[in-house]
Amino acid sequence: MSVEKGDVVKVNVVDIGSKGEGICKYKDFTIFVDGVVPGDVLETEITIKKKNYANGKVVKILKESDIRETPKCEYFDSCGGCQIQNIKYEEQLKYKTNKVKSAIERIGKITDVEVYDTIGMEEPYHYRNKGQFPIKMKNNKAQIGFYKVGTHEIVDLNECIIQDEISNKVLNIVREIINENRISAYNEKSRKGVLRHVVIKTAYHTKDTMVIIVTNGRDLPHIGKFVNRLKEVPEVKSLIQNVNKQRGNKILGLKNYTLYGDDYILDDIGGIDFEISPLSFFQVNPRQTETLYNKTLEFADLKGDETVFDLYCGIGSISLFLAKNAKKVYGVEVVAQSIRDAKRNAKRNGIFNAEFVVGKAEEMIPKLYANDITADVVVLDPPRKGCETRLLDTIIDMNPKKIVYVSCKPSTLARDLKYFVEHNYEIQEIQPVDMFPHSTHVETVVGLYRKESAK
Ligand SMILES: C[S@@+](CC[C@H](N)C(=O)[O-])C[C@H]1O[C@@H](n2cnc3c(N)ncnc32)[C@H](O)[C@@H]1O
Repeated sequence: MSVEKGDVVKVNVVDIGSKGEGICKYKDFTIFVDGVVPGDVLETEITIKKKNYANGKVVKILKESDIRETPKCEYFDSCGGCQIQNIKYEEQLKYKTNKVKSAIERIGKITDVEVYDTIGMEEPYHYRNKGQFPIKMKNNKAQIGFYKVGTHEIVDLNECIIQDEISNKVLNIVREIINENRISAYNEKSRKGVLRHVVIKTAYHTKDTMVIIVTNGRDLPHIGKFVNRLKEVPEVKSLIQNVNKQRGNKILGLKNYTLYGDDYILDDIGGIDFEISPLSFFQVNPRQTETLYNKTLEFADLKGDETVFDLYCGIGSISLFLAKNAKKVYGVEVVAQSIRDAKRNAKRNGIFNAEFVVGKAEEMIPKLYANDITADVVVLDPPRKGCETRLLDTIIDMNPKKIVYVSCKPSTLARDLKYFVEHNYEIQEIQPVDMFPHSTHVETVVGLYRKESAK
């Protein structure tokens, strides 16, 4: 049974899509509707009709789902930051567990391993240690916040309830400085105007905060006002001007100027200190990162005499976390700046059994292996697209006793797990961790072991 544009039909919401949209069924035809949750029954008006699906908008909710919750955030309906704040937190966790389970079964063809319940947060608010807020002018007033879904229109925020509290305080001070001093904001079309973004990073343990003002050139009018006003916030230990003259969506340029304080802030995960500099990657949910890394350590089951490969290592956080329990760790990462940070962090923590290599994992691992450098345990934490087959082939050839796969995308995780399972590995445990409450994203850590008959 199909529908036509303009039709109003009664539907049930059966699932949530990757952007948080409700997946509705009208007989067996699929209609996507924003702002509804599984269990809702509603009338929807069809706005777009395609061959295999349609989009609709809510006309009337006929029955509200039991899993619905009033979002705590007043901007939820317009802001693109969170997608499922309108679902009770325990139900968000169930949704994430099912998302992983379904990918593992459907794509990985693995049906005999239990997917554990997603590990959630006790207090799933104010967890983000980093906020990147675009700045625009509207009616001569600064707007700073997040983009509305699918647009470059800004939702002007006074508060974001998933960001660290200090970030909200800084955001409002920056807005006042801009408005009081009539400093211009960057215009994407004309490419004129000064201020592009404000990026705020806060260390979880010390609350030390770095504020990065991103400008369209070296000139920053009223620079002293930024310095003096932000110095009054005791947590702000570092003020940086970052210059980004490039067209496009990249937030930070390569050039940084320290306006006051240090050029890094310090945070720690599991007792290991990390320097966080303006350009370096650091996990955004420090509380859950520790949980994720502890699971990684548990699944790696190190005895102390192993060589470990930490592939896609970023600033070496997993490598340094594992190093205390291993003979030697090699971290491999494609971004040179991250490897410089990893080496500095190793030195700062007095860790001398970790070595870091710049390059693509799929190119560097075959080279290391050709030089007889091999691993007993391999940790993989790739970006969303997962691993290249040539990397998986080299790992399989290397035959490590354990593989721990950390993933932010269930579908590519399931695809790569299937490959390992077809090549002599067995899955021991699958543990989803909620790194991003109120979003549809889920992180998963999987422990695999080599079947003993191999090599
Ligand atoms: C999900 S992050 C993991 C970072 C790190 N493990 C952590 O926990 O902070 C993925 C990392 O892979 C890096 N990367 C992307 N493609 C790569 C490749 N082909 N080879 C090596 N590293 C790559 C990215 O720069 C990024 O640092």
